Amino acid sequence: MSEHVSDSAEWQALQGHAEKFSAVHLRDLFDSEPQRGERYAAEVADLYVDYSKNLITDEVLSALFALAGRAKLSERIAAMFAGEHINVTEDRAVLHTALRLPRDASLVVDGQDVVADVHEVLDRMGAFADKVRSGEWVGHTGQRIKTIVNIGIGGSDLGPVMAYEALKDYSQRDIEARFVSNIDPTDLYEKTRDLDPATTLFIIVSKTFTTQETLTNAREARTWLLATLNDDAAVAKHFVAVSTNAAKVAEFGIDTDNMFGFWDWVGGRYSLPSAVGLSVLIAIGKEQFADMLAGYRKIDEHFRSTPIERNVPALLGLLNVWYDTFLGAQSHAVLPYAQYLHRFAAYLQQLTMESNGKSVRLDGAPVSFQTGEVFWGEPGTNGQHAFYQLIHQGTKLIPADFIGFSRPNHDIGEMHDLFMSNFLAQTGALAFGKTVEQVEAEGTKPAVVPHRVMQGNHPTTTILADKLTPHTFGQLVALYEHITFTQGVIWEINSFDQWGVELGKAMANQVAPKLTSAEAPADDADSSTNTLIKRYRAARGR
Ligand code: F6P
Repeated sequence: MSEHVSDSAEWQALQGHAEKFSAVHLRDLFDSEPQRGERYAAEVADLYVDYSKNLITDEVLSALFALAGRAKLSERIAAMFAGEHINVTEDRAVLHTALRLPRDASLVVDGQDVVADVHEVLDRMGAFADKVRSGEWVGHTGQRIKTIVNIGIGGSDLGPVMAYEALKDYSQRDIEARFVSNIDPTDLYEKTRDLDPATTLFIIVSKTFTTQETLTNAREARTWLLATLNDDAAVAKHFVAVSTNAAKVAEFGIDTDNMFGFWDWVGGRYSLPSAVGLSVLIAIGKEQFADMLAGYRKIDEHFRSTPIERNVPALLGLLNVWYDTFLGAQSHAVLPYAQYLHRFAAYLQQLTMESNGKSVRLDGAPVSFQTGEVFWGEPGTNGQHAFYQLIHQGTKLIPADFIGFSRPNHDIGEMHDLFMSNFLAQTGALAFGKTVEQVEAEGTKPAVVPHRVMQGNHPTTTILADKLTPHTFGQLVALYEHITFTQGVIWEINSFDQWGVELGKAMANQVAPKLTSAEAPADDADSSTNTLIKRYRAARGR
């Protein structure tokens, strides 16, 4: 067996740097290098990335780049873009980047030109969206569609809902999109209770078309529709599907002429730019959806072709490894100063944690270090009045990404300037804190001084773009996709399977009959589950 990256001299070198780093403070780093803010910054496409407020020196960066060399990061990037089957446990290519290739490109994978396939589907999606947006597509009673309800879960929900919210300002406002994901019946109820079936279009999104939550919601949505429209023929006008599984779509009763396909080489959590984004495409139209894809593509190109030392997603991924694996951080905050990005952290949780929540390496050996930090966050400034206190004065190391835009979508009075003053002030406060001397100089009572001291030295990365547009939005999402990839490569794990999720799905299917039938045994599981099942059955009168 070849040596693991974690056994290498490069890995040990970083452990050595980490031991020395407890004595380093961002105040000293900035004092000793007045140009640090300019030097530790990079521009990629329309994103300005300031990484100067991170706990790094040139030596640490060199050591991280050496580690990337040892892990063959460049070769792994090339393998992903070329369509090699890097998802080894499912024997699949990982080609979400092909979803963003231009029409005139060509990429033959497993004997098939995937770019031609991608654009064939994009064209069908665009034509369908045009009809819905213009009112040419009418429902069963001849009325135009006013509401789209996307039914899907995980990658078939989080990307579309996050993007729809992010790009709402670019949407056609007389068509609203809603998103049903949870099998909790209240989700479907609340999202449909005030809708008119005659003006509602359901998009059933499921890569496998076997997911319990989605198929159950879809069946109940059909029942809801037919209760009013009372004609099976209405389904063809009010249901379309997005899936890789045409047979299952047909079995469900949706005409495959109304199906938009994608491929097993698109992972669910990477599927927003595929047909999974149909609701977003209908909302913003095909030209702006193309702008979004072009944004993704700019970052893809950069990631594919830029040497690691200047490669921004690679650099940010390496920083995450530095914090998580070498400095012991357990979580990572993502703090967009953009209310439109209010679902961004939820989306990133699946992208990063389903990808890198792994404890076994590609060769089957267990890892011997920390992988997969917990991603979380809320838009600023709301988070400032909730959990920032713990980042400022708590005991945990929490690297944080601050994402902001210079120009607002809506300029109202001085609001945006005040908003962005918070954005800029917070990273300074986190990095430099407030010393005893500063607190004392304010005349603070001696007993209160220690409480008001802010140690600082809390690392942040600032990502500043001109404006939130479909184009910059695509760049931002691609940036995080490739950060996630980089981390997986260094850890030598498979970022593209999710076997851990499968176990829970299988077990839910075993429990379900026990809840619905008093005849089913309720004593053949563990004692905790048995007791809970009995209590549930009693409450439901079974
Ligand atoms: O949550 C696990 C998962 O397999 C995700 O990876 C996927 O995005 C989600 O379920 C939904 O799967 P599908 O699109 O096949 O319904």
